[in-house]
Amino acid sequence: MSILKLLGMILFLLVSYVAIVVIFPPLNFPKNIPTIPFYVIFLPAIFPIDQTELYDIYIRESMEKYGAVKIFFGSRWNILVSRSEYLSQIFKDEDTFAKSGNQKKIPYSALAAYTGDNVISAHGKVWRDYRNAVTNGLQHFDDAPISKNAKIFCSLIKQRVQKGQFSIQMGPLSQRLALDNISQVALGFDFATLKQEKNALHEHLVRIKKQIFHPFFLTFPFLDLLPIPSRRRAFKDVSSFRELLVKKVQDQLINNYKFEQTTFAASDLIRAYNNEIIDYKQLSDNIVIILVAGHENPQLLFNTSLYLLAKYSNQWQKRLRQEVKGITDSKALAELPLLNAFIFEAVRLYPPLSTIINRCTTKACKLGADIVIPKNVYIGYNNFGSSHDPKNWGPTANDFEPDRWGSDIETIRKNWRLAKNRCTVTGFHGGRRACLGEKLALTEMRITLAEMLKQLEWSLDPEWGEKLTPAGPLCPLNLKLIFRENVQK
Ligand code: HEM
Repeated sequence: MSILKLLGMILFLLVSYVAIVVIFPPLNFPKNIPTIPFYVIFLPAIFPIDQTELYDIYIRESMEKYGAVKIFFGSRWNILVSRSEYLSQIFKDEDTFAKSGNQKKIPYSALAAYTGDNVISAHGKVWRDYRNAVTNGLQHFDDAPISKNAKIFCSLIKQRVQKGQFSIQMGPLSQRLALDNISQVALGFDFATLKQEKNALHEHLVRIKKQIFHPFFLTFPFLDLLPIPSRRRAFKDVSSFRELLVKKVQDQLINNYKFEQTTFAASDLIRAYNNEIIDYKQLSDNIVIILVAGHENPQLLFNTSLYLLAKYSNQWQKRLRQEVKGITDSKALAELPLLNAFIFEAVRLYPPLSTIINRCTTKACKLGADIVIPKNVYIGYNNFGSSHDPKNWGPTANDFEPDRWGSDIETIRKNWRLAKNRCTVTGFHGGRRACLGEKLALTEMRITLAEMLKQLEWSLDPEWGEKLTPAGPLCPLNLKLIFRENVQK
């Protein structure tokens, strides 16, 4: 056989193997749950379809009937779950359904190089060490910077309005707000992007985000193994950003003569490093994840909230504006029924992290009574599915109805707690691995939305094609709003 023929045969076998691995789930996957066709996940890259439409057309029926499906994502077959009993089981049984983030799933990717091994993705003792270090700073924080930043944010919008620029694309502006909030509240330094848009660290971050969250490389992360020049540059950029960030945090905190008294999450991480509980890489990984989780997720929820307030402006913007009138204290904002019910409904309707696939079975096990899952299978949660399932939320599951949470603050809070405990809203995850930033994120929402409602009025820009993001984090895609000053203060 000639060399050419042999090479042709090897190539044919390789392509057939890859095709089979992509098209069909592995033979040992459970047969009693449906398979979502492998191509579904690629559709948003080809057609103008958003992830909620994709869910409605291709996933919803199977998911609501069986509570779990087989789905191809991130170069492998996974099991995606939305039934609340199954989610509850997964959240409780950390040892069987062990967290296994990008550092384990795709360790060779630029994404893994960015976030490393951190408190969100680690498992076991390492996770406990990280969690011990960051909990206090994320639970007990000074919210004064959030109020100050909300005022600066409103003044930036007003400046544009006064110059005649009424239509504003919200993404970049919200990102600046979210970065300043998390850096000042949890990392002990000021990112300062609200004061100065063209700030070197911010520009660096914007550049690496474009590279890391590139939809093509997120779908085919194994390409990061190849010597593609743009990806090599991405790795270099990520590495220099991480160095700069950690140095900035360390310089700011250690040079602070009151370091021992500082209670930022980052100060406790540095103390854990000084006490040799974590090493330098672990310190860097966790500082980066606080920045990433601490600004990406609130920014998504904030944009979603602005979108819902614009879409239902006659009802909800007016009702909330009336409610927040004259209230400045953040504790008093936490007691307002309409504002809190509105935010909970925004999380329910559009959970910012709509799908997360980051657990892996450590042994063969059963999900519920009869779904047998082999060892080493990735399990994901479909947060969007659980909060849109009529079994959990009745016939209005898809509708925006903040009043469903109750009319007084005690009932609203109780229903929020119940929804989290029963896993009918999993937007902030649940169980022992529940989000550590929920309190901070909700405080940010209340303070900033209240300030905006007092100072501004807004509506959807009629030129904005109302769409949500096609994949990944869920929020309105390139949201554009029309602003005017609120003259009735
Ligand atoms: C609206 C805003 C937010 C949402 C929707 C959200 C959602 C989530 C979700 C779904 C998880 C579980 C992630 C997973 O399984 O991979 C999580 C974990 C976590 N979040 Fe948030 N998050 C938000 C804001 C924040 C903020 C502001 C911080 C502050 C740094 C933060 C810190 C964390 C941490 C440290 C964990 C890991 C908890 C653990 O595993 O022990 N989050 N969050």
